[in-house]
Amino acid sequence: MSGGGNKVRKIERILRSISPSNYDTLITHGGVQSNHCRVVALKAAEVGKKCILYLHGEDEALRRPSGNLLIMALAGAEIHVVPHKTLWDAFNCGVEECRKAGMRPFVVPGGGHCVAGAEAYVEAMNELGNELKQSDWIPDVIIHASGTGATQAGLAAGLDVLSWPTRLIGISVGRPSPRGKAAVEEMYHEVRDTLRMPGQPREIEFRDEWLCGGYEQASDDVLACIRHVAETEGMILDPTYTGKAFLGLIDLVNKGEIPRGKRVLFWHTGGLMNLLSCRYFGT
Ligand SMILES: Cc1ncc(COP(=O)(O)O)c(C=O)c1O
Repeated sequence: MSGGGNKVRKIERILRSISPSNYDTLITHGGVQSNHCRVVALKAAEVGKKCILYLHGEDEALRRPSGNLLIMALAGAEIHVVPHKTLWDAFNCGVEECRKAGMRPFVVPGGGHCVAGAEAYVEAMNELGNELKQSDWIPDVIIHASGTGATQAGLAAGLDVLSWPTRLIGISVGRPSPRGKAAVEEMYHEVRDTLRMPGQPREIEFRDEWLCGGYEQASDDVLACIRHVAETEGMILDPTYTGKAFLGLIDLVNKGEIPRGKRVLFWHTGGLMNLLSCRYFGT
């Protein structure tokens, strides 16, 4: 799907859990540069459904849309930009209005944060297991950007299915640790319960040392990390998600928390549109 990223698997899996005849509209919410809202808009266009988005942000954003917002608009989504503090009320009213108008909206949870969204990452881990079957390479550590927590919860449950002893480290992109970790744990246990997984649950490792000022904020270290990885690996990171995760990875290696020689898998979750719409690079 255009722009890619971790929200693609989530929407694919969420829509597999419901019959297309049960809804005519996908409705959801997020920020004006939400990857989740972009994939919902594209998916709705692909399957011939209407899409309604409630986005928090500046009103002017729509005048010269860029990045994810531009794609949402191109995909024909009905877009409502509202202030952050009124988002929830506006969204609930929007859903109600749809129903009153005789439409059949399917409410996609913000960020694709639900058990089905997390299950997409149990499946993804299984794919990784199949890919690596032919080799004797199993990661000692997997690192990735963690936000609302469904990706990490699914990856953790996926590791349980594979019975790999791999250490999974989620690098927070905005939430401080107690709250972020609790959100991952809650979803992880829900997924394990839903899939009736036997055995002991694992400890969730959610690290918040590279918040760089908070969600959608980036420090000079993150920007330097993005440049370094682009120049030395030809791999593109972004300032909101993967740049922070990779900065965390480098720090953990430098501090010896990940000993040299360990097999490390960086799970790239996307973020290209966040890079292309960001205000940090340039003169
Ligand atoms: C590019 C990217 N990476 C990582 C994440 C974090 O995923 P999750 O919210 O499932 O923790 C997001 C969520 O918005 C994302 O868009």
